[in-house]
Amino acid sequence: MTHGTLNSTAALVTEYPWPKLAGLKVLDLACGSGRNGFWFLAQGCEVTFIDQDLSAMASLKHDKAQLWQWNLEDGSAPPLPIEAFDIVLVFNYLHRPLFSQIAASIKPNGLIVYETFTWQQAEIGHPRNPDFLLMEHELQSVFANWQSLHYFEGRLSDPVSGAQSLKAQLIARKPSQ
Ligand SMILES: C[S@@+](CC[C@H](N)C(=O)[O-])C[C@H]1O[C@@H](n2cnc3c(N)ncnc32)[C@H](O)[C@@H]1O
Repeated sequence: MTHGTLNSTAALVTEYPWPKLAGLKVLDLACGSGRNGFWFLAQGCEVTFIDQDLSAMASLKHDKAQLWQWNLEDGSAPPLPIEAFDIVLVFNYLHRPLFSQIAASIKPNGLIVYETFTWQQAEIGHPRNPDFLLMEHELQSVFANWQSLHYFEGRLSDPVSGAQSLKAQLIARKPSQ
């Protein structure tokens, strides 16, 4: 699968064969420009955008969008709400202490959609800090008891710029109980 630039919706989002999305509650965690959450907003979802810096989205006025400007790492933010979201998106962000909160924030039968860099990325560019790089099969191990709907680990090519990156992608369904 290809992937997009940080200005366009990720290919994992646009190419996945989603079921009906309208009305679902979606969280775009560490959303940046909100490029992925916006896509779900356009499908009729209610989208919560969280980032430490939401200035890029300051002008957004949409009755189905919530903006929470939270620092997720310094202890100042409340915990993510429990079983609140049908789908949680995490792209290009890794803070391992949040894994359990992310999992808990998803409703039973809800989906995690995760894409970020693996340790191999350090061999070709940034990020290089191991804290920001997934280990081999790490997402599969974190969501081990979830139903895996899509998994990829390897080299991705930006369809626009041709830039290469080494990433893992997971879409997995939370158990019903
Ligand atoms: C590489 S960008 C990815 C943005 C978006 N997910 C995307 O793929 O387009 C990483 C994002 O994580 C956010 N971030 C980094 N540290 C954070 C923190 N401690 N709390 C909240 N957001 C943070 C940054 O502000 C930035 O928007």
